[in-house]
Amino acid sequence: MSFAFNEKSNELANNALAKYPNDRKQSAVMPFLDIAQRQNDNWLSQDCIEYVANQLEMPFIKVWEVVTFYTMYNTQPVGKNFVQVCTTTPCWLRGSEHVVRACKEIISENPKNVSADNLFSWMEVECLGACVNAPMIQINDDFYEDLNYETTKNILLSLIDGKPLQVGSQIGRQGSKGVSDAK
Ligand code: FES
Repeated sequence: MSFAFNEKSNELANNALAKYPNDRKQSAVMPFLDIAQRQNDNWLSQDCIEYVANQLEMPFIKVWEVVTFYTMYNTQPVGKNFVQVCTTTPCWLRGSEHVVRACKEIISENPKNVSADNLFSWMEVECLGACVNAPMIQINDDFYEDLNYETTKNILLSLIDGKPLQVGSQIGRQGSKGVSDAK
């Protein structure tokens, strides 16, 4: 097993553990996995999962059950910009297929393929809780909302060019304010 928390991850892990009684440290399994994933380029290798299991004195299979239940944990490498496209009903009704089309054109025809330059991968996911501004995508920790084919393409091209990006609504509305109020 070669993975181990670095100094920053150790500090985060200790903070997470402090929230639970000493004899309930398994309760910290989700934050521990998140910390491990962030340290390991946004995915959980077997080493990472074994490390978390050892740290929390849990059987590997118990930790694996958590990892495979939640889509927030990646069990294979992802691109530096990990694009999650919501295609659940509200986003689908608002045109998520055009968002998927832009991802296929710019990133890869097939989801979960990491681009040769390691810059991107994309995949379809279930509702990410921003339905009011559908359709939307999540790239790493940020949401981009009120998308169409053009705006999705622009976001991806801006990432390639290293241009600054505006997170949130791409039509200028604040929060979920009505479209007619958007400036
Ligand atoms: S359906 Fe897409 S965010 Fe909820």
